[in-house]
Amino acid sequence: MVQKTTELYRGKAKTVYNTSDENLLVLHFRNDTSAFDGERIEQLDRKGMINNKFNFFIMQKLEQAGIPTQVEALLADDEVLVKKLAMIPVECVVRNYAAGSLVRRLGVTEGIALSPATFELFLKNDALHDPMVNESLAESFGWATAEQLAEMKRLTFKANDVLQALFDDAGMLLVDFKLEFGLFNGQVVLGDEFSPDGCRLWDKATRKKLDKDRFRQGLGGVVEAYEEVANRLGVKLD
Ligand code: TMP
Ligand code: ASP
Repeated sequence: MVQKTTELYRGKAKTVYNTSDENLLVLHFRNDTSAFDGERIEQLDRKGMINNKFNFFIMQKLEQAGIPTQVEALLADDEVLVKKLAMIPVECVVRNYAAGSLVRRLGVTEGIALSPATFELFLKNDALHDPMVNESLAESFGWATAEQLAEMKRLTFKANDVLQALFDDAGMLLVDFKLEFGLFNGQVVLGDEFSPDGCRLWDKATRKKLDKDRFRQGLGGVVEAYEEVANRLGVKLD
């Protein structure tokens, strides 16, 4: 049995622990919920547990669809065992509908359909507010090679196909989402998490927001919305 040992890294919503196996880590999903690159942080009861179980469910679906993920095993309500990846500091964002920073940057109307879906890269750097970058910058600064970037893009669009269908069947629109990848023995592998903290989900009929925009925009009912998303997908929470 792999044992959790020392703390390796404390992120905004998760803490990463080393384990007795040098190739494995434990991710602990905390209740902390942050917005605006960590400027606002609150504890939301049950959020860590919901995101951990939700993430495990989604990662299993992606793995079944042929996307390599870091997830190994669910350890506890708020903990998952994962492969230790060398993380690539570039976030991949796909958008099916306009929202968030795209609306602010381009002045387009929230909710317009984007066809084909867009693909953007952002540098993971809170101090710089995760600036938008591109493949040329990523290569020149050595964040990722051209081959790795192409694989990240391919896997992100594949995840979009799988997840759009999954959420559609559960009466939701997958508006946009962010993925982070890392390397394991040279292979590009999906890491970090997929949860309502890092995507936008709207009810298909009413377009009610069911994701972290409820927190960012002070709409209330944040955990209730996350729980509703999990329940609609059939994720077992208790
Ligand atoms: P954006 O509209 O703020 O650019 O975000 C697009 C999507 O990616 C949205 O679902 C939130 C997610 N995202 C994160 O979770 N963390 C990040 O650091 C960034 C840039 C985006
Ligand atoms: N994930 C980032 C943060 O926690 C951006 C956001 O979600 O608004 O600050």
